[in-house]
Amino acid sequence: MFTHSRGQRRRRDSEESERNHAEPGGDLEFGSYTARRQRKSPEEEERLEREHFWKIINTFTCYGSHIHERVNRAERQFLSLPKSQQNMMPNFQSNLDRIRKCADHNQEILQLIVNDCTCMFENKEYSNNGHNKPTPASTFDMDKLKSTIKQFVRDWSEEGKSEREVCYQPIINEILKYFPKDKCDPSDITILVPGAGLGRLAWEIAMHGYSCQGNEWSFFMLFSSNFVLNRCSEINAFKLYPWIHQFSNNVRSVDQVQPVYFPDVNPHDLPFNPNFSMTAGDFQEIYTDKNSWDCVATCFFIDTAHNILDYVETIWNILKPGGIWINLGPLLYHFENLANELSIELSYEDLKNVILQHGFLMEMERESVRTTYTVNPLSMMKYFFDCVFFVARKPE
Ligand SMILES: C[S@@+](CC[C@H](N)C(=O)[O-])C[C@H]1O[C@@H](n2cnc3c(N)ncnc32)[C@H](O)[C@@H]1O
Repeated sequence: MFTHSRGQRRRRDSEESERNHAEPGGDLEFGSYTARRQRKSPEEEERLEREHFWKIINTFTCYGSHIHERVNRAERQFLSLPKSQQNMMPNFQSNLDRIRKCADHNQEILQLIVNDCTCMFENKEYSNNGHNKPTPASTFDMDKLKSTIKQFVRDWSEEGKSEREVCYQPIINEILKYFPKDKCDPSDITILVPGAGLGRLAWEIAMHGYSCQGNEWSFFMLFSSNFVLNRCSEINAFKLYPWIHQFSNNVRSVDQVQPVYFPDVNPHDLPFNPNFSMTAGDFQEIYTDKNSWDCVATCFFIDTAHNILDYVETIWNILKPGGIWINLGPLLYHFENLANELSIELSYEDLKNVILQHGFLMEMERESVRTTYTVNPLSMMKYFFDCVFFVARKPE
């Protein structure tokens, strides 16, 4: 079901970056990754790669104990209150017990997700020598894991449908408009989705028959998309409790322990399409072949750049003459405020200028597409994005 383009190992300027590749034959597989600022010896790179891989596995493994600690803290604070106040909250401790059970369940799913990670790499073995004992994960990594759990809601649950309608459907509609299936063979149209997250947009595009490749670099996302795309074949066979980490802004206590079932579709329903693939790694490093894609579709992606001008340049280079770039998303620059990280923050106005200076022709543009991102529909606090949405063409 999946194809794979194997790449050479390259470096990328971020502590968080990763690169890997998916392999055909039904399962995503992942190659080596590397991500360090300075050039290092191959041995050093190898060591860092392994460390990073095991750091993420470790984060998955110690999720449960992390959440238990958080719940224990809430319990300690409750018990520190005067008895008279405790008595006013007769359900407080049973609510915490419910959260503990949900955390245990989430941990079981996370364990399933990472169970076969060591053998999902096609050009690298991550044997677990010396990495058996879980150690506490950093708050940073744990936050990423919690976000990944919410990403299951966005991409593969019934609850995420309305979010997908506003984020993914407009992109799909433009693809259908620019490459109408009655005027072309969709399998001849090559579409790249960089920063594919858990892969739903790429999967949907492939479901329409287009040749689609999703690309992603985060191990959190890669392990999880591997699980959905390769291990899930029954609708709603699994559940997660994505909101248990949210202790504020709950209207009812039970809202915190609402389960979300996934996948809402059978990912294996994709008709046999040898042209659907997932690649793993840094978009800028993998995609260097010029004039090779009919369409690049970016959703909530371009603001992940250190230097957004580099992304624009890469997209310009890899698009075929006449090809289109469809973008929907905000400009929430990911490296803003991160010490020692390059972060070029452009307004949309300035970004558009850059895009036009490359030679792109703006074919369609909407400046205020209201969307959410992994929103908790039950929460008292919700973030909205007024996204930019455009189609830009690289002239013939
Ligand atoms: C905000 S998320 C959006 C995910 C998905 N497109 C969606 O709309 O749900 C951005 C994604 O881009 C990925 N990403 C960031 N930089 C990347 C890079 N240089 N190459 C590939 N993926 C990258 C991140 O790991 C993350 O999964």
